[in-house]
Amino acid sequence: MAKENIPTHIAIIMDGNGRWAQEKNLPRLQGHLAGVNAVRRVTEYCQEFKIKYLTLYAFSRENWDRPKEEVEGLMSLFSKVIREEINELKKNRIRVRFLGKINELPPDVKKSALWIQEQTKNLEKLNLILAFNYSGRSEIIEAANKAIEMGKKITEETFRNFLFLPDVPDPDLFIRTSGELRISNFLLYQIAYTELFFTEELWPDFNKDQFMKAIRSYQKRERRFGTIQ
Ligand code: IPE
Ligand code: IPE
Ligand code: MG
Repeated sequence: MAKENIPTHIAIIMDGNGRWAQEKNLPRLQGHLAGVNAVRRVTEYCQEFKIKYLTLYAFSRENWDRPKEEVEGLMSLFSKVIREEINELKKNRIRVRFLGKINELPPDVKKSALWIQEQTKNLEKLNLILAFNYSGRSEIIEAANKAIEMGKKITEETFRNFLFLPDVPDPDLFIRTSGELRISNFLLYQIAYTELFFTEELWPDFNKDQFMKAIRSYQKRERRFGTIQ
């Protein structure tokens, strides 16, 4: 794999936890638990390859419509993992940031999210961005409303300032696991020129081989941004 031309920002739809569990006759929540291990692994690979931004789609606004048991399981898993990982995150100088409506989360989950953001805010090696209670359409609509409230006409240059994380560069590489070929309301504005990579593996099985395959595929692409060479 070439050492140059490594993506600055990778965004991943971590999909397939439920099917992974179902294949093994396990409850869906076991799939999410196995998904957390894949998150740990991918965070390590990003550090190894000096990737600056990793955005992970962990919970969409539409995911609230899943059965109560699964939603509650995901919420408590999330709080638990955040609190368990703090030392490791600090040791590796990983800054955790949230993309999504934190205020709508159950109070204890919201507390954990704000706490980890605060605890890691000065760390600089890797920005780990967790899209949690996120919807790309809502992000765009909220941004438009903020601009209206300020009485501002938006342009492509100024619109970005109204998005949730204006300082984060657009993803260079998008990965979706589990064979689904769709965007599912993820980063709709930001992926205009992102390179897309889809893989059949279910998220809990995602490993270094697949990660490298995605990066190699990215490195072979010619990004033209609408121009000609
Ligand atoms: C992705 O896995 C994780 C979340 C949406 C929280 P799924 O739970 O969507 O897994 P499948 O798609 O049902 O296999
Ligand atoms: C997208 O996956 C959301 C996350 C991975 C958090 P879904 O499994 O919810 O998406 P659809 O329903 O297959 O489009
Ligand atoms: Mg899914």
